[in-house]
Amino acid sequence: MPLPRPRHPVPALLAALLLLSACGETAVPDTHPQRWVSQRQAIFKDFTRTLEPMGLAARGRQTYNPSEFVAQALALQQLSRKPWPLFPADSQYPPTRARPEVWAEPAAFEQAQAVYLQTVDALLAAAQTGTLDAVRPAVVQVQDACKACHERFRATAPAR
Ligand code: HEC
Repeated sequence: MPLPRPRHPVPALLAALLLLSACGETAVPDTHPQRWVSQRQAIFKDFTRTLEPMGLAARGRQTYNPSEFVAQALALQQLSRKPWPLFPADSQYPPTRARPEVWAEPAAFEQAQAVYLQTVDALLAAAQTGTLDAVRPAVVQVQDACKACHERFRATAPAR
């Protein structure tokens, strides 16, 4: 799969350096018996993996195949419900990147989930029209919902 070409060399370099420093950190193992943090992080990684081909198709970097796109949107819809029960009260421990606001502001966290779930449902509806013009803005809406929640509820670095 082709990587998105960087438009500006400097941010790309910065991103590479940030990635390097992130890899250089020793990962804290998830020793909780329920492994809440690793469980939910694995689902979030699947979010990214599932959304990525739709993002590429929406931006014209991959062929838009309407029926494949529906299957991908359906997969994202099924995944989209899964992480939220994995944030119980005692699950704020390293290596989580969840901010304390997840537990301190539960109504706002639920609201961010609700907005996200709506965008995912709308993406599936758009996919079912079978037109690129419909899926393009719907993908952006989903990406915006991921970002909005991360800005408020996800820290840039893991807790220690
Ligand atoms: C309602 C809030 C919310 C939404 C919506 C959301 N996330 Fe997240 N995401 C989080 C939180 C909180 C974490 C940190 C979890 C942890 O480390 O315990 C996280 C972590 C992640 C991670 C890091 C996983 C890891 O291994 O550390 C990825 C990747 C990610 N999200 C991708 C996405 C994508 C892609 C979307 C949209 C399709 C999305 N998220 C939507 C809250 C959200």
